[in-house]
Amino acid sequence: MDILLWHKLLGPYELAVQELVLKFRHMKKEYQDRGMYCPIESVEGRVKTVSSILDKMKRKNIPMDQLEELVEDIAGVRIICQFVEDIEKVSRMIEERSDIEVQYEKDYVKNMKESGYRSYHLIIFYTVHTLEGPKKLQMEIQIRTMAMDFWATVEHSLQYKYKERIPEHIKRRLSNAANAIIALDNEMSSVRSEIMDAQLSSQLQHRMVADILNNIENMYRVTSQREVEKIQEEFYRIYALNDMAELKHFHTQLDMIAEGYRAQSVTEDL
Ligand code: GTP
Ligand code: MG
Repeated sequence: MDILLWHKLLGPYELAVQELVLKFRHMKKEYQDRGMYCPIESVEGRVKTVSSILDKMKRKNIPMDQLEELVEDIAGVRIICQFVEDIEKVSRMIEERSDIEVQYEKDYVKNMKESGYRSYHLIIFYTVHTLEGPKKLQMEIQIRTMAMDFWATVEHSLQYKYKERIPEHIKRRLSNAANAIIALDNEMSSVRSEIMDAQLSSQLQHRMVADILNNIENMYRVTSQREVEKIQEEFYRIYALNDMAELKHFHTQLDMIAEGYRAQSVTEDL
């Protein structure tokens, strides 16, 4: 196959990765906009390079005409979660989508690989539309925690360095590290609700501060500078108290004041 044909083959996969990454990132945004905890921490994606496709074909004895069927991860999307519990949530969300058809799953979270690798994989079908019409593609979605991702990234670099023949003493270390990752994920799960609460209230605080500043800025246009400066100083004072309830109260009060000004300016405009 010449280089142009590779290009033609991989083009739709590029599109598929971009579309799915965008869709999952947007899902995260929707959660955030609603002030809800999001089981997705981050999303990334990639199309396999030609050389690593060739390596895999050689390693697994895959003929060119079965490339798209047997190399399941030509296109891959990776979803990183904070907690082990989030993995199941994300996978259920994916199963419920009408644009993704789950073919089968590989649960390396429950069944850790011998290497120590843990991750939840979904092999899916996803259809993209190009000038040639619709094309149904096979893809791999990997869902794992940040801790599992850390382990996999480090181990992958070592595999690369040692050309998949990692020395025994390093393998042992990696296996110890994999157990430490399990312990870490468990510890994190045990404080999950605390962490989720903390993150939600910090998100809420950011949104309230943005709202307050927005209101203050709008007021500059309709009222005296002195008045607005007084309000701004009051905001700084309350912010420094570091008291969420006080900030909420101020936020509501200011909203009402701003609403009053808005009504006034509308009447004046008439
Ligand atoms: P390859 O492992 O890529 O040959 O694919 P496979 O058909 O054997 O499927 P498998 O489920 O074993 O692996 C799919 C993908 O999971 C790989 O491409 C890697 O991204 C990841 N993976 C699987 N095993 C390991 C591992 O031991 N270490 C690391 N770092 N990643 C792994
Ligand atoms: Mg493998």
